[in-house]
Amino acid sequence: MKKIKVAILGCNGLVGRQFARLLDDHPYFELSCVTASPSSQGKQYGEAIAHGSEPNVSEKTGSLVIRKTAAAAVIESGARVAFSALPAAVAGDLELELRRNGLAVFSNASSHRLDAQVPLLVPEANADHLELARVQVREFHGGFIVTNSNCSVAGLAMALKPLTVFSLRAVVVTTFQAISGAGQRGVAAWDILGNVIPYIDNEEEKIERETRKILGTRTGERIQDHELEIYPSCSRVPVRNGHLLSVTVEFPGPVGAEAIAAAFSGFRAQPQRMALPTAPRRPLLLQGNEDRPQPLLDVQAGEPERARGMAVSVGRVRSSGNRCSFFLLVHNTVRGAAGGCVLNAELALKTNLLRGN
Ligand SMILES: NC(=O)c1ccc[n+]([C@@H]2O[C@H](COP(=O)([O-])OP(=O)(O)OC[C@H]3O[C@@H](n4cnc5c(N)ncnc54)[C@H](OP(=O)(O)O)[C@@H]3O)[C@@H](O)[C@H]2O)c1
Repeated sequence: MKKIKVAILGCNGLVGRQFARLLDDHPYFELSCVTASPSSQGKQYGEAIAHGSEPNVSEKTGSLVIRKTAAAAVIESGARVAFSALPAAVAGDLELELRRNGLAVFSNASSHRLDAQVPLLVPEANADHLELARVQVREFHGGFIVTNSNCSVAGLAMALKPLTVFSLRAVVVTTFQAISGAGQRGVAAWDILGNVIPYIDNEEEKIERETRKILGTRTGERIQDHELEIYPSCSRVPVRNGHLLSVTVEFPGPVGAEAIAAAFSGFRAQPQRMALPTAPRRPLLLQGNEDRPQPLLDVQAGEPERARGMAVSVGRVRSSGNRCSFFLLVHNTVRGAAGGCVLNAELALKTNLLRGN
């Protein structure tokens, strides 16, 4: 199969670097263009990322020269797909322009997540929502935008999906979110070391709206949001990678902890059935020990090697009457960002939404 040429927009950031790692030797995609801010343009990619938590990239990827973050530069590179790891303020208009020019955009930015025609995808939870993109394909001559969710939502929606068989009524969720969730220059060490910050701008709103859309029902080319009530509280904690969530779910009637645990362990979905390259064999990993999951020990969960960080770990499952509680852990820059985006693109390719050069 001829590989499809792709670009990374915002290649130097924490999410951009994860994209580079995942796309460096991808069976379907060939990285042909990287872009960043004006201060990085013209530099060799390998040199630009040679500090901090740089990924191990091949010589070929390392020798790419960072281009201007502009539609013309991406189009000129021959890329058919753009993976966007840009701040929302920059991503919004550029992603629309790329779509107008017939490119497929897979984005981490929040700019278009709630647009009616744009799938907000966690493919284990709502692969069928990808059908929305076919409306865009017709209108924009092959171009479309698919987004992945907020990083906490990526884990939450995945864990809630197998519980929908018991009917979900309400969810109370408290997050303990890693520093890397705020990007490369996100939180000053002075503010976060030895501290917990009980506020993340706009995060609780995203958890409510995005979870309802992802768990919503598709009828034709429309999504009816799930009616579930969601009560989120978000905090930033001094952890490098991995968002831990404490979740309590309310059902219409009693559901035992064993039934919940079995629903988690047995969960498989379309990415697993299609054996997509970045899909973890088991999307939800039930941790047996009572002090797990922990960011330090479990953030890289997922097999095979390409799917490291793509599995969501769940543990401490407890139930009482019609409520059940558990913890979950999601790798924010992998499952909650770059890995989720690449998985979306693999699904789009294998369902013939995305076509080659
Ligand atoms: N971090 C996470 O866990 C996470 C999870 C889910 C979604 N997201 C979303 O993913 C996106 C990227 O997040 P991140 O954490 O990787 O951010 P980041 O570390 O701050 O990286 C941002 C990237 O965008 C580039 N950039 C910034 N301003 C630009 C401009 N005006 N023009 C062109 N390029 C510009 C930067 O280039 P330079 O390096 O040259 O400045 C850098 O490559 C954001 O929309 C974020 O909300 C992040």
